[in-house]
Amino acid sequence: MLIEIEKKSKTYRFEANAGEKILHAGLRAGVPLPFECATGTCGSCKARVNQGDIDEGWPEAPGKENFKAAKREMLMCQCVAQTDCNLTVPSKIKAFREDDINPDHHQGKITDYEMLTSDVLRFEVKVPIEGTFHAGQFFVLQAPELEGYRAYSMVNYSQSTDTLEFIIKKFPGGELSNWAFESNRLNETLDVFGPLGRATFHPDEGHDLFMIAGGSGVAGLMSILEHANQVNYFQDHKVELYFGVRTPNDLFFAERFRAIKTQHPDNVSINIVFSNEPPTSEQLSGNDGLNYLTGFVHERALPAVLEGGGNTMHYLAGPAPMVDALIRPLILDSKIPADRIRYDKFN
Ligand SMILES: Cc1cc2nc3c(=O)[nH]c(=O)nc-3n(C[C@H](O)[C@H](O)[C@H](O)COP(=O)(O)OP(=O)(O)OC[C@H]3O[C@@H](n4cnc5c(N)ncnc54)[C@H](O)[C@@H]3O)c2cc1C
Ligand code: FES
Repeated sequence: MLIEIEKKSKTYRFEANAGEKILHAGLRAGVPLPFECATGTCGSCKARVNQGDIDEGWPEAPGKENFKAAKREMLMCQCVAQTDCNLTVPSKIKAFREDDINPDHHQGKITDYEMLTSDVLRFEVKVPIEGTFHAGQFFVLQAPELEGYRAYSMVNYSQSTDTLEFIIKKFPGGELSNWAFESNRLNETLDVFGPLGRATFHPDEGHDLFMIAGGSGVAGLMSILEHANQVNYFQDHKVELYFGVRTPNDLFFAERFRAIKTQHPDNVSINIVFSNEPPTSEQLSGNDGLNYLTGFVHERALPAVLEGGGNTMHYLAGPAPMVDALIRPLILDSKIPADRIRYDKFN
């Protein structure tokens, strides 16, 4: 199916395979279509259908809440073309970075599977070809027999790998998280599409890093820490991470944090914030080099934001209410320019 998108400056044309989401087809062809969640919740991939037949996909997608049926508005991340189509995309089409990797479809196999806490598990997915992604990016995964894709950020980083490492938080009533937790999924296969996302880290930008993560939001930030560490970034640049979980039993990746802190004690600051219980006495002893605090992660992190100075890139990831609670004060009170904030809202 030929998809045509007319913008004032240019007409984009690309082919979509039978059954393929229009967003996937466009991104795969290198057309930088607008999107954020890629999974039907945010509405940023809106398009109007001028000509052609479309299957709209997920009828209850929250992202199309205020869409006008009469104008044939739909979500490119959900809809599938049934004939050649001509679309209007109201949002700006922003060019990719030169080093961006065009996403693609793969069949992945789960090759490692372990529980990290009672409601967070980690698995690795092996894909048939080696490739790379920017630290901070995500893939969308489709589990067998489930409708639709779910977004998960990679935890690992490598310049060439066939392995994607993910953490999955148990989401009450969530279909994919139920599937992942219900039994050991080693050797199961998944359809995956990626890499996607712009909350990315690029060493050549030379920023200090300020990061705030709630729960599984730490996934993409771990990938950024991993990439930065591989290029010895913390020799010359600082990172301050605030990572919020409920209780000491919910903490994971402490070993990985300690390893990075030990290598660069002066430039790496890791703050673990417990919302529901105080730190243990051992944690408070300070022996492991990490700082342990109590409270809501956004409230503990905000006062520290300005201490980093003007050359800082801010990364936020986690539940949408946490990210929303941070963006406004960062921009309005702390006067952080919007282009110094990169975020992923976990809807
Ligand atoms: C950019 C990004 C990165 C993320 N990274 C992580 C991460 O690293 N770790 C983590 O734990 N969480 C992450 N999340 C959150 C994670 O994607 C959600 O928790 C997950 O979607 C829950 O899926 P579920 O099946 O368990 O829940 P459900 O409530 O069953 O499904 C939730 C999502 O599945 C999709 N969906 C449901 N039904 C349909 C349908 N019929 N058709 C099409 N789509 C459907 C929708 O996107 C919906 O929002 C991320 C989210 C985003 C946006
Ligand atoms: S990108 Fe399609 S709804 Fe978020």
